[in-house]
Amino acid sequence: MRILVLHGPNLNLLGAREPDIYGSATLDDINRNLDKLAKELGVEIESFQSNHEGELVDRIQAAGNKFDAILLNAAAYTHTSVAIRDAVAAVGVPVVELHISNIHSREEFRHQSLIAPVARGVVMGFGPASYSLALRGVIGLVNAEKKE
Ligand code: DQA
Repeated sequence: MRILVLHGPNLNLLGAREPDIYGSATLDDINRNLDKLAKELGVEIESFQSNHEGELVDRIQAAGNKFDAILLNAAAYTHTSVAIRDAVAAVGVPVVELHISNIHSREEFRHQSLIAPVARGVVMGFGPASYSLALRGVIGLVNAEKKE
């Protein structure tokens, strides 16, 4: 099983960025932990971070042929990007939206996710552990669908 992990804008600054909200783990820490968990669970993951909307759209489009599922923290684009939502709706593999923070307990402009209505599942509010929870969840989802 192959899972693509996409990190959106400003997530390259994790560790230094608003640590009271996002914690002290860097993006490298998160990717390393996720790699370790993926190995334990017997799946392959590829991680990619971009500050550019179009690059994220390109990766989502291309994932349809190469991956079984996508974990997507679209960061600020969650709240603004019709292009990323449309790419998620078009790609033929399940996409799980995830956030480090609980977007509903924060500023009102973060309460709306354009992606959630077209995502298969959403994980948020568990700090960096949102990534490992989402990985476990999506593996279960893909396995269940293979059995059908
Ligand atoms: C975030 C939440 C978004 O509102 C914010 O713009 C981010 C990170 C999260 O992981 O909690 O950059 O997606």
